[in-house]
Amino acid sequence: MSDLDLLAQIAPSILTADFGNLAQQVRDADAGGAGLWHLDVMDGHFVPPLSFGKEVIAAVRAATPRFIEAHLMVERPGEQFADMAQAGAQRLVFHYEAAGTPATRAEAARALAMQAHDLGCEAGIAINPVTPVEALYPLLDTLDEVLVMLIRPGWGGQQANLDLLDKVRALRAHLTAEGRAMAINVDGGVKPANARACAEAGASILVAGSAVFNATQTPQQALAELHGALAR
Ligand code: DX5
Ligand code: ZN
Repeated sequence: MSDLDLLAQIAPSILTADFGNLAQQVRDADAGGAGLWHLDVMDGHFVPPLSFGKEVIAAVRAATPRFIEAHLMVERPGEQFADMAQAGAQRLVFHYEAAGTPATRAEAARALAMQAHDLGCEAGIAINPVTPVEALYPLLDTLDEVLVMLIRPGWGGQQANLDLLDKVRALRAHLTAEGRAMAINVDGGVKPANARACAEAGASILVAGSAVFNATQTPQQALAELHGALAR
């Protein structure tokens, strides 16, 4: 698959993977051409569910040579950065909504991005459906990625709101006008039926959880279907 010219990379999320067989699930998705890994850390506060922390990130790290980003759906993300970096995450993606208070948000987000860089990691900011993408424009110089949520965070298997691709279009146009190239990641409800629309809107990374790890396909079959939708 590696010679397929794709419009965007797929970043599998393991939320619906078989955790009893995690290393093999990761190797299967790598064999299917996963571009990088997207690991969803939830603390039961920023979002209602709990998912996993550094131990599972370390287990994925041991199973794959690919790039790992940690999507931190947690309050006080900075308190987790060192553990995530130590476990092998190479990009720390925190929520804009979890940075400081509404009054100090931009400044707090900038400090978090710098903290990630000081740990030798890339920095990304995720935005919930209610947050306008323009809020991030003053921060782009400190970021390596913007992650646009297409669902309310907290649960896999939801349906993407494709109206939110307008944010991706606006951000990609803004970046292009500034002469800047940056990863734009879309997360939530990505499926073969909407993958191409996400890439054409300007997303360069598509997170796919239940589209990769589901009851009806192997990860290789699922990725082949997604790549088919993204072939140039
Ligand atoms: C949701 C997570 C996502 C998501 C992906 O809060 O950030 O990464 O679970 O799963 P699907 O692709 O099933 O929406
Ligand atoms: Zn995610």
